Amino acid sequence: MAGVSFRNVTKVFGKDVKAVNNLTLDIRDQEFMVLVGPSGCGKTTALRMVAGLEEATEGDILIGDVRVNDVPPKDRDIAMVFQNYALYPHMNVYDNIAFGLRLRELKGFVWQLTHWNEAREIKKDIDRRVRETAAMLGIEGYLNRRPKELSGGQRQRVALGRAIVRKPKVFLMDEPLSNLDAKLRVQTRAELIRLHRSLGITTIYVTHDQVEAMTMGQRIAIMRDGVLQQCDKPEVVYQKPANRFVAGFIGSPPMNFLEAKLVEEGGQVWVDAGEFRFPVVGNGAARDAVGKDVLMGIRPESIFDASLESHVKPTDFNTFVAKVDVLEPLGHEYVAYLKCGKHNLLASIETGTKIAIDQEARFVVNLEQVHIFDKETEVAIR
Ligand SMILES: Nc1ncnc2c1ncn2[C@@H]1O[C@H](COP(=O)(O)OP(=O)(O)OP(=O)(O)O)[C@@H](O)[C@H]1O
Ligand SMILES: [Mg+2]
Repeated sequence: MAGVSFRNVTKVFGKDVKAVNNLTLDIRDQEFMVLVGPSGCGKTTALRMVAGLEEATEGDILIGDVRVNDVPPKDRDIAMVFQNYALYPHMNVYDNIAFGLRLRELKGFVWQLTHWNEAREIKKDIDRRVRETAAMLGIEGYLNRRPKELSGGQRQRVALGRAIVRKPKVFLMDEPLSNLDAKLRVQTRAELIRLHRSLGITTIYVTHDQVEAMTMGQRIAIMRDGVLQQCDKPEVVYQKPANRFVAGFIGSPPMNFLEAKLVEEGGQVWVDAGEFRFPVVGNGAARDAVGKDVLMGIRPESIFDASLESHVKPTDFNTFVAKVDVLEPLGHEYVAYLKCGKHNLLASIETGTKIAIDQEARFVVNLEQVHIFDKETEVAIR
């Protein structure tokens, strides 16, 4: 067992493509860490450097307490599951899972001829581990089938089995669920979490899907253009995004950003968007930024229909009036597209609402959940 650390790691491709830019990140022993970010932000590159498939241009990579920059991939004791896992098509499931173990532990043909008792014991052990792994993944009934005789989800589990059976120090997973359909992805997601809980192996999991990141990660690290933006527990990243990018990336439908100004009146700091203004809860840092142009961030789920009962009571200071432009029914709620002067907002509104297209309605905002970002630096002020 071991943690993994990036210390000021940079990877430059060619002359000037900084795929990973001064990354410092500690993944704890037994932790499930998700690296997430849009396409091209450097997730795969970061993972490949841990695997030893890419060399860091600068900085140190540690597995446990050992600097591994110069350790060859096969000696790093990691297992990697790729997006395009390739199973051996001519081998059955059993052999696909056993293959790596045999290669590693039975060494060579000549050795087996000369050490046959020992080889027989190792083969027995491999057999036990393959069957145990297959049972854990629910594919013990398919051991004799070839990959082409399996569904996509079953193939995915064989690929996982091949990685798990080795009980490595660290798992590296690069979008391993992206080939599965939506339903199977949700199911396999839960299986992976369960598996991690029972094996307790340090895992770095890469995805561009924020829902996958939020649901799977014990902590999630959000990257953009090779730069780490924030690393924390999912609920912290959601509730206290460090900057506008993280705020907009995490959450669905995405957070609304409204151009606004911070003003002070009668000892109270307000965030003023023109059409409406709200008192800033917890004045501290906002007071120092009075006079600045800011972006007010409000998540769709922080907006409620003021005429419905909700835990946020409408007052003179937390409501606004807007016209309903579009209303998308999702079954459990509506996504409402609202227009309020120059502002466009998305709101998640409970079913049971009486709001209607082209009509004005009153909405209430949970002020505890209003975010404020410096317009210029995009760093969170509140
Ligand atoms: N071998 C390479 N040579 C040159 N540039 C590369 C190479 N590999 C990756 N890059 C560049 O480095 C950047 C990061 O790529 P990387 O594959 O790490 O992104 P990613 O976050 O995994 O994206 P995706 O979600 O699309 O898989 C990209 O701009 C990419 O074009
Ligand atoms: Mg990638």
